Order: sequence, then structure tokens, then C-alpha cells
Amino acid sequence: MIKDTSIFAHPSELEFAQILNFYGLKWEYEPRSFALRYDGDKIAEMMTPDFYLTDLDLYLELTTLKQSLVTQKNRKVRKIKELYPDVNIKLLYRKDFHRILAKYGFGPLAEADTKGIDKILLSTRQIQHKVNRLGSEISSDYKGLKPVLVGVQRGMICFMADLMRKISLPVEIDFMTISPYSGDDSQSVGISKDLEMDLSGKDVILVEDIIDTGMTLSFLKDHLISKNTNSLQICTLLDKKIRRLVETDIKYVGFDVPDEFLVGYGLDYNEKYRNLPFIGILQT
Ligand code: IMP
Ligand code: MG
Repeated sequence: MIKDTSIFAHPSELEFAQILNFYGLKWEYEPRSFALRYDGDKIAEMMTPDFYLTDLDLYLELTTLKQSLVTQKNRKVRKIKELYPDVNIKLLYRKDFHRILAKYGFGPLAEADTKGIDKILLSTRQIQHKVNRLGSEISSDYKGLKPVLVGVQRGMICFMADLMRKISLPVEIDFMTISPYSGDDSQSVGISKDLEMDLSGKDVILVEDIIDTGMTLSFLKDHLISKNTNSLQICTLLDKKIRRLVETDIKYVGFDVPDEFLVGYGLDYNEKYRNLPFIGILQT
């Protein structure tokens, strides 16, 4: 729970803090100011990033308030990177933030009428080709073993179904479901349906549809590791790298994808579009 909501300058910061809490990511609000320019020995310009994510050693600046400030903030962030090369800082644009909210069915994007698919990003053929390649890669890497493919409901359904048929080894499969963020401040990410299989000593491959901020993945990894697996690797069809907040090693990646909202081949927008045989960009 966030005790004092008055510390935030803007409701979007509070909402963002709630999302971080949901994923159990520790944060501090505006804990440090960076001097950017001196006038003699007086500080003439400085910047105080909105959030510091303690465990990730990452500063975040939200530019959700005024678009007119974006250029200025961009310049300040560049300056911090220049003057303090050891400091990790990222700028989160209004668009990024709205997309994060839309994933959970909130915010202006979720409320807007969607006009449908803008264009096809990956055709059925391109996807099949890539799935074949991932399947053979996994088959040779896990030779002599019996990997367990773990899927998190529901986005991976098409990918998992195709991938397992391209792995020429005995494989086992199991599924879990996690509770999505609902905007409730007291809620944290949890498992609404856990795996049924005992994973201890198993070689587990977590099969994901898409990695975005990485917050879900980081939670899932910790959860799976706690089951004493012999090994754990990640296989994701899509990687939206540019949006990453929590970095994680991902062994198998199908496609690096642009910062767009994607649907089809299992991916949904408010539970729609999952059954499209291709991956399309949603008009926003
Ligand atoms: P993360 O925790 O931000 O990495 O979110 C990952 C999850 O968000 C994925 O498993 C998807 O369910 C969902 N997601 C992220 N990006 C998209 C997208 O472009 N379309 C549909 N779902 C998405
Ligand atoms: Mg998912």
C-alpha cells in the first residue's frame, strides 16, 4: 500500500508506483537530484528523476504530464548520462505509459475505440519459419534431455502448440496463470493457477509470447527457480527490447519487435484478436 499519496506530483506517478508495487519492485520517489550545470560554484541547473528502482539500480523519469516538456527532459537525461556515466536512467514517454496501462485494460488507450489492425508485422509464413528454427535449436541444445515447456496463460497458446511439434525430443508441458494488475493498490502479482507438475530436477523452458517491460518475466523466473529446477531458460517469440525495464537473459528469441501494440497468434487486446493467424499492429 502507498501510505502517502500526496508525495506524487501527478496521478500517473501514483498509478505507476502501484504497478511497481504490484510486481514487487522496490522504488523511491525523487530520492536524488543531479547537478547538470554550475554557475561558479552555484548549481544553475539540476534534475530530479521521478523514481529510483532500488534493486535494478535504475532511475526513471516519467514524461506523462506535458508533452512540451519532453524535449527538455530528453536533453536533461542525456546530460545525466554524460556527466554521470555510472548512473542508469530511462525516460518513459506518455505513449509508453499508456501502453503499460492498456495491457491491463486501463488508461486512455484501453478506453478508445480501436479501429482494427494497422498492418501485418509478421505473416504466418514468417512465424512458422522462425518457430521451425527455434524448434531445431532447442532440439540440439537439449539433446538427451527431456525438457519441460512451461507456458503462462494465455498468450503463448499458438506459439507453444507450434513450437512443441518442432522439437524432436520427448517434451513435457505444463501451464500456469498469473493474476493481472487490476488497479487495486493493495494487490500484488500472484499465481492464480500454479503448475501441476513437480519441476524439481527438471530442465525447464519458459515459453513466452512477448517480453515487454520484463516485470512479469522477472517474477516468473523467481517463482520457477524456487521449484529447484535443474536448469531454466527463456524462449520468447517476440522481444520488445526497447521497452525493457527489468533486464533478464533470454536464450531463445524469435523476433525483435518495434514499440507497437501487437495482436494475433495468441496475443490479445482485451481478449480480442487472439485467433488471427498472423501478428498485426493494432491501430492506436
Ligand atoms: P511485461 O511484464 O511488461 O514484460 O509484459 C509481458 C506481458 O504483457 C506479455 O506476456 C503479454 O501478455 C503482455 N503484452 C506485452 N506487450 C503486448 C502487446 O504488444 N500485445 C499484447 N500483449 C502484450
Ligand atoms: Mg502474458
